[in-house]
Amino acid sequence: MENIIASAVSQVGDTGHEAAPRRSPPGSFVIFGGGGDLTRRLLLPAIYNLACAGLLDDGFSVVAVDRAELTDEQLQRNVRAALEDFAARRGAEAVTLREDIWAWMQPRIRYVRGDFESMQTYQDIAAVVGDQNCIFYLAVAARFFGPIVDRLGEAGLVREGRHTFRRVIVEKPFGNDLPSAVALNERLLHTLTEQQIYRIDHYLGKETVQNILALRFSNGFFEPLWNRQNIDHVQITAAETVGVEQRAKFYEGTGALRDMVPNHVMQLLAMTAMEAPISFDADAVRNEKTKVLDAIHPLLPQDVVRGQYAPGVVGGKEVPGYRQEPGVDPHSLTETYMAMKFQIDNWRWAGVPFYVRTGKRLAARKTEIAIHFKSAPYALFRDTPVEKLAPNIMVIHIQPTEGVTMQFSAKIPGPSVRLGGVRMKFDYAEWFSEGPSTGYETLIYDCMIGDATLFQRADNIEAGWRAVQPVLDWGQDARSLDFYAAGSEGPEAADALLARDHRHWLKIG
Ligand code: BG6
Repeated sequence: MENIIASAVSQVGDTGHEAAPRRSPPGSFVIFGGGGDLTRRLLLPAIYNLACAGLLDDGFSVVAVDRAELTDEQLQRNVRAALEDFAARRGAEAVTLREDIWAWMQPRIRYVRGDFESMQTYQDIAAVVGDQNCIFYLAVAARFFGPIVDRLGEAGLVREGRHTFRRVIVEKPFGNDLPSAVALNERLLHTLTEQQIYRIDHYLGKETVQNILALRFSNGFFEPLWNRQNIDHVQITAAETVGVEQRAKFYEGTGALRDMVPNHVMQLLAMTAMEAPISFDADAVRNEKTKVLDAIHPLLPQDVVRGQYAPGVVGGKEVPGYRQEPGVDPHSLTETYMAMKFQIDNWRWAGVPFYVRTGKRLAARKTEIAIHFKSAPYALFRDTPVEKLAPNIMVIHIQPTEGVTMQFSAKIPGPSVRLGGVRMKFDYAEWFSEGPSTGYETLIYDCMIGDATLFQRADNIEAGWRAVQPVLDWGQDARSLDFYAAGSEGPEAADALLARDHRHWLKIG
């Protein structure tokens, strides 16, 4: 995390202080679910990208663990195919796979076949990894997290040496409510120390999410304004155009709230609202994040909107409603959209609502944080009453556009004094030439070098769940579900949530 920030600063300011990133320590990267989709699409391409960047030690190896019958050679062929599909791509444009990197990687890829619950599997892993450093990546269904960690413990595979580490990366979903997250933390902590657990939230691998901290705390002029005296409200949007895709089985029991809010959305909120940490040390950052999430006022029913997409048009194409999707109950009450108004009970934010919304099948794919500043206190420009001045809004664009825009008023050229809203834009792509990335490179590399800043500590995870637990406690019923047409801006009730406070959402599409 520290080195990421340092290199961004040196590119802009040309300060010349950029430290050369260090190579990872040698060791095995053991992936449970090594034949799965996450591994193919994101993890292996990320490892390839790290190899291209020269960040992997010669003593590095990948050990894929899964249930299919495969030889090392067959696995290596599959990995090569996956890299050709997913790694050799910069945006939409294909780039040629580097043969020198593949020649380096291929012999470092091993396969262990086995059942995740059988002790034999762990003995086989032990034989392959020996006593070197190991990262165990749990790219498996959540029901295996506990059993795998128990077995790793029983097999002695997470015992660290004087100079060797054993770490475990846990994917989401981490629990499906507060009590189950607490129970999972307890179970993992029975075998592992907190320092050995790296709970991943892939949003924290996004450059633009990391940039929120750089923006706030490496510049002199944002932070003095970043409080209730100057900010009217904050809007956080994580909108998608995709529907439930092939994930009905998972999504029916999960819904938009559990899928997106306690994790991704809460990370965005925490990065935006936290106090300045005393350093970029993992614990310093994570202390501040937990503090701000713990300061969230318990949600009230009138501050929550649950929605589900009905048939509509997305990208010019007619699409079915959620209830018509394959594998979905035709009477399903699962939400595909959530809007909520959070209040943070502390001195910095008292009285400043944080409105958040997330949903599938919306008008556009867009994740952003919009900071709405208070308007000028009086109308110096007589023809433009205060309420007509363009509001000052700073938008942090997370994806697909990456950058920051500022909206403010300027004089429209001409003999009379008239004001118009203008925008100033910083576009990541214009300033930085970045290599291909799956978003997992930083996270994997940070785990290798033992930097947990971008991973969630047990209390962070629990604070995220605690913030949404009231909604889970109310349960689902038909009265609490509002429908919206696929391809729209979301349910009308979400507009009403802001209209009640004389505000409105920025447009998604
Ligand atoms: C995942 C959710 O965690 O995040 C998905 O399970 C969602 O439902 C995805 O689509 C969004 O991630 P991104 O990086 O595409 O914004």
